[in-house]
Amino acid sequence: MQIQNVELVISAVAAGQYPTDQLPEIALTGRSNVGKSSLINKLISRRKMARTSSTPGKTQTLNFYRLNQALYFVDVPGYGYAKVSKRDREKFSQMIETYLTSRQTLKGVVSLVDIRHEPTADDISMYQYLKYYHIPVLVVATKGDKVPRGKWNQRISRISKALELNQTDQIVVFSSQTGVGSDQVWQWVEQQTAV
Ligand code: GTP
Ligand code: MG
Repeated sequence: MQIQNVELVISAVAAGQYPTDQLPEIALTGRSNVGKSSLINKLISRRKMARTSSTPGKTQTLNFYRLNQALYFVDVPGYGYAKVSKRDREKFSQMIETYLTSRQTLKGVVSLVDIRHEPTADDISMYQYLKYYHIPVLVVATKGDKVPRGKWNQRISRISKALELNQTDQIVVFSSQTGVGSDQVWQWVEQQTAV
């Protein structure tokens, strides 16, 4: 998809603020600092559109990026960041749950895990949660540039096993540094949103 136009339409904290234009949406989930905002930037070829940070906990609202007036990417706060207070963590998870379970226009979720590590308990719960609600999911093993290419297959099978990945679900190696995997992610996004 040729990106002509990107707008941050709203940073929402409550359902009443979600866009009402009925365009299809793809949300990004994953641990804090895993690279959700960086993936959005890479996919839309805008280096600084979605705010990224080496400090976890950067994204604290549901950020709706509208592309070409055709679809949205929804940047979601990361989970599993210990330094976020219990109160805030509950607030975030409530916000994410409400969104994932009630949003009619949500067509799929790109669920990010770090290629270097075993999926955390939270990663596993998130994947199972998405399956439970029958939300189409693409697993992305990110920071692919941090692991030699020869190790990718081994990492992918470890991650697939830990997540108990459905045979029908894809897992893609991605890097926001090199752009590897971008085409595959785009292909999946286009399939889900029919744009
Ligand atoms: P929260 O908003 O806190 O949930 O984090 P996030 O998942 O949006 O992560 P973000 O995109 O802000 O990236 C976190 C850090 O990881 C930044 O320092 C990025 O530069 C770095 N990073 C993200 N993706 C990659 C990647 O593919 N390769 C490498 N080497 N670094 C990456
Ligand atoms: Mg972020």
